[in-house]
Amino acid sequence: SKRYTGLIEHYRDRLPIGPETRPVSLCEGNTPLIQLVNLPRLIGKEVELYVKFEGLNPTGSFKDRGMTMAVTQAVASGSRAIICASTGNTSAAAAAYAARAGIACFVLIPDGKIALGKLAQAMIHGAKVLQIQGNFDDGMRLVKEIADHAPVTIVNSINPFRIEGQKTAAFEIVDALGRAPDYHCLPVGNAGNITAYWKGYTEYALGTASHAAVTDRRPVMCGYQAAGAAPFVAGAFVEHPETVATAIRIGIPQSWDGAWNAQKESGGWFAPFTDAEILATQKLLSEKEGIFCEPASATSVAGALHDIQSGKIPEGSVVVCTLTGVGLKDPDTAIGQCDVKPAKIQATLDAVKGAILE
Ligand code: F0G
Repeated sequence: SKRYTGLIEHYRDRLPIGPETRPVSLCEGNTPLIQLVNLPRLIGKEVELYVKFEGLNPTGSFKDRGMTMAVTQAVASGSRAIICASTGNTSAAAAAYAARAGIACFVLIPDGKIALGKLAQAMIHGAKVLQIQGNFDDGMRLVKEIADHAPVTIVNSINPFRIEGQKTAAFEIVDALGRAPDYHCLPVGNAGNITAYWKGYTEYALGTASHAAVTDRRPVMCGYQAAGAAPFVAGAFVEHPETVATAIRIGIPQSWDGAWNAQKESGGWFAPFTDAEILATQKLLSEKEGIFCEPASATSVAGALHDIQSGKIPEGSVVVCTLTGVGLKDPDTAIGQCDVKPAKIQATLDAVKGAILE
């Protein structure tokens, strides 16, 4: 059998990468589609509910799918430096793939409000980390401006190669299920991912110039946002986005039109969830399913459970939620979620016995 070597090699004929171009890859993609068994039972609903655990990509988030494409293309076109604004995961992926490619990486991150693991990643991979006195939207504006003044390639999702890479997650889901799901649930921040999934599902369902259709349907796209950072729910940009799910603390989504297009064409919807609901769902997934995702990722499952419970997503449906990032990214928030702290005991048999049998 052929060793899996990343999504560009696997889906090369469906990606805008020439046959001779050598991928900058960390074997990203090919992530598990895990069926949830306990949560549907808990809410008493008959649904086939899956999570696409994108937190198991090499840098711990779905960003690796887009970054292998963006950095491969940047290197192929002679670029020696990449830049991005980020709430953390994009900067972690950019730093890792730049390291792999041997090029420079600059990342603009919000002052504070970035999960510890993500900062550690950008730093250890040797990116130049610029912590700006502003939020992600400020960083995005600056990145777009600086690209006109310095020889750097933007690797945010306004780079179309990012979307191309990320669409492969939809391919994998259809390949795994043998069909498209009825509903696909995503956390929405900058809205690149919902745009990318819709592109992937559409290419598999409608076919392309070089490929016949693989499936006869596309899912309804459900975009869930943090209530304090929900421009798609408001129908307008949000000036001061705020949420514990720092990954999606975004008020001016760059893929505004792409997300609306996915919603309209699929007959989907956007809905907001409070920080308390997001955190409760993160804990529920951890405690009841053994799956530890970061807070932003839990928004997709919070939305799915809510809409399954209400009947908006009917029983009998096949539902996929993307878990965009791994829980280890944000240990502070996870520890803060747990009332029971480690019990400090003496290093004796009696103390251990006492603790276990108490
Ligand atoms: N979940 C996580 C864990 C993310 O890091 C992001 C975005 C999203 C969801 C939202 O995806 O932006 O495509 O709608 N993180 C970006 C970053 C903004 O800088 O890492 P989206």
